[in-house]
Amino acid sequence: MRRNGWLICNERRPAMNSNPSRTLDALLLPAVSTLTAAGIEDARLDVEYLLAHLLHCQRRDLRRQLNAVEAALKGSPFADLLARRERREPLQRILGRWEFWGLDLELGPETLIPRPDTECIVDAVLKCRSDRSQALRLLDLGTGSGALLLALLSEFPNAWGLGIDLSPAAAGIARRNADQLGLGQRAAFCVADWTTALSGEMSGEFSGLFDVIVSNPPYIPTGDLAGLQPEVALHEPRLALDGGVDGLDACSRLMGDLPRLLRSGGLVLVEHGFDQGERVATLLREAGLTEIQTLRDLAGQERVGFAIKV
Ligand SMILES: C[S@@+](CC[C@H](N)C(=O)[O-])C[C@H]1O[C@@H](n2cnc3c(N)ncnc32)[C@H](O)[C@@H]1O
Repeated sequence: MRRNGWLICNERRPAMNSNPSRTLDALLLPAVSTLTAAGIEDARLDVEYLLAHLLHCQRRDLRRQLNAVEAALKGSPFADLLARRERREPLQRILGRWEFWGLDLELGPETLIPRPDTECIVDAVLKCRSDRSQALRLLDLGTGSGALLLALLSEFPNAWGLGIDLSPAAAGIARRNADQLGLGQRAAFCVADWTTALSGEMSGEFSGLFDVIVSNPPYIPTGDLAGLQPEVALHEPRLALDGGVDGLDACSRLMGDLPRLLRSGGLVLVEHGFDQGERVATLLREAGLTEIQTLRDLAGQERVGFAIKV
């Protein structure tokens, strides 16, 4: 290129597609067909995520680097990832990270993949506590990757929160996520069986009542576990799923403790199965909580029991 009489030879230009009939769609087709044949609905999306992961780019950038895409598709790292997905390992587990409430979270074998439906808990807290500057004390029971607690801490810059999980590996990942997101100073994590760490004499930051208690406990009836899609049945941690015979073992166990941990006017939000709304509302009422409501998720299904302590 000539500019002002000088030959400019070091300008960056987008790589040309030497074969105009070669498109991203055509390149991806064999891998997409492989996943479709394995019963995966969003096969194209998954293939794009796997490639973007290997090429350290965004999905939207793939179209602009067909040479790199073509090379990656031929390599054994991609073949390995594709084979894992074909065996119905969840995409999020293969990537080792997933997004919740706009936060990029590390995942591990012991952490549930955070679901978009769970975001309705964060939404509801924001609606009830519109002043974001409040120094809330938050408690997340069964914190997993830390998804709920970290989403809330990201919205309330003066809040402090405690995440509890029975799995030491999950609590460790939640801690790393908090640190990576710059929320570590305002988060504590504890390995314990629900609220047992909060019984008796409490000292330091663990002492004191909470303004908001959130929980997404395991709520799938044991008998339903085997019938779930392979991504869940074979790859999600059982401790995160199994809610006992009627699915409400964990919910019933932790519910009675909530009033003593909440300050007056404090909120409780507990996720549940689409058909458990009435039973969870009864448990909240029996625990002595008030203003009970059942909130719906993005798909319109009953998903969260909500209550206030008078
Ligand atoms: C459905 S997962 C929810 C994870 C995370 N809060 C989320 O919404 O993505 C339930 C979590 O509860 C934890 N859990 C199960 N039984 C527990 C118990 N007895 N005490 C504390 N945590 C428990 C599991 O390890 C798991 O991380």
